[in-house]
Amino acid sequence: MNTPAITGTGVFTPSEIITNAELVAAFNAYVDLFNAENADKIAAGAVAAKEYSSEEFIVKASGIQQRYVIDKTGVLDPKVMHPLLRQRGDDEPSLMAEMGVKAAQDALAQAGKSAKDVDLVICAASNMERAYPAVAIEIQQQLGINGFAFDMNVACSSATFGIQAAADMVRSGSIGGALVINPEICSAHLEWRDRDCHFIFGDVATATLIETAQAATGPYFEIKSTRCATEFSNNIRNNNGYLRRSRPAGMVDRRDMQFMQNGRKVFKEVLPMVSDHIAAHMADGGVQAADLKRLWLHQANKTMNDFIGKKVLGRTPEPSEQPNTLQDYANTSSAGSIIAFSKYSGDLEDGDKGLICSFGAGYSVGSVLVERHA
Ligand code: COA
Repeated sequence: MNTPAITGTGVFTPSEIITNAELVAAFNAYVDLFNAENADKIAAGAVAAKEYSSEEFIVKASGIQQRYVIDKTGVLDPKVMHPLLRQRGDDEPSLMAEMGVKAAQDALAQAGKSAKDVDLVICAASNMERAYPAVAIEIQQQLGINGFAFDMNVACSSATFGIQAAADMVRSGSIGGALVINPEICSAHLEWRDRDCHFIFGDVATATLIETAQAATGPYFEIKSTRCATEFSNNIRNNNGYLRRSRPAGMVDRRDMQFMQNGRKVFKEVLPMVSDHIAAHMADGGVQAADLKRLWLHQANKTMNDFIGKKVLGRTPEPSEQPNTLQDYANTSSAGSIIAFSKYSGDLEDGDKGLICSFGAGYSVGSVLVERHA
């Protein structure tokens, strides 16, 4: 049996930023337009007036201060309120592949590796730009990788589930190396006109290179063990899918064709699920709270992460022990814990242990226990 290891990570960050101030100004302008256009119906009680959003609420409820997006012009236009993404021709790279390739190149460069060291590409994300051919196969072709590739979707847990699949294959010897790539264009599945969630998401792509520990040419993270769990819930849901066109005309703009959540219920139900999951994973791996130098958690909500960090360590974590990136990136679905890992892991010393954990729709939770070899 081989020992799987994370030998490199990469993050592709879009160049456009939307601050909370810009977001709220655009949303409130949209509210004014909507209420003016629907004044009669609102007065008659047939339509509910929309309410303003606020920067104070967003920071207090989530910890998010800004988000990166592929296109801010559409999102911030009160008459559009969604990203304007150019339809690409079949002979051009898809947007997800383009972002994924950039993150993957960074991961390969960090590890000092090239396409010939990779036998598998998994494109693991919450949404796929198309049904087929797999985006992963397009990335494989663009990077010049032999072997095979496939897409997988476990919503916010896609990265850790992908890492488990890749690590198991590296351990068994069926592959030598794998790239797990998470291009998340969350701006396109977010309903920017819904004040309960319009501030939640941002865009990014992350990549993780998994190889045998023996193949590492520099510092690496041994993957000690992984654990995945799912439990069905309707509380985070997006009903868009290939049956959409078979629905009657006029139903195309249904609210449930974008991200929906019952945030309060998610909070209440996912927190114990994640805390228990991590505790059981650590106990089975013989890892005590005092052994953990760092937690790289899913980046959805600061209060949620503070709660989980405290539960896992048995005390309030120092900010450096449980680094957050959501203040800058917002929720980037599966990529969040990998951004945190990529940006805040290089300083760990030989023998230091840490835990990557993602959670979200499904419900799903995935954790990866790692040990630094410097
Ligand atoms: N601006 C101002 N006020 C707002 C607002 C906004 N943008 N959005 C909601 N409010 C109001 C609500 O109307 C409500 O008012 P009320 O008390 O008069 O009814 C109040 O603020 C509280 O709203 P609520 O939805 O209960 O807020 P919350 O504290 O639960 O925070 C979330 C909302 C979504 C940030 C939070 O529930 C959350 O993060 N949940 C988990 C999310 C998660 O992990 N999801 C996984 C996604 S992958």
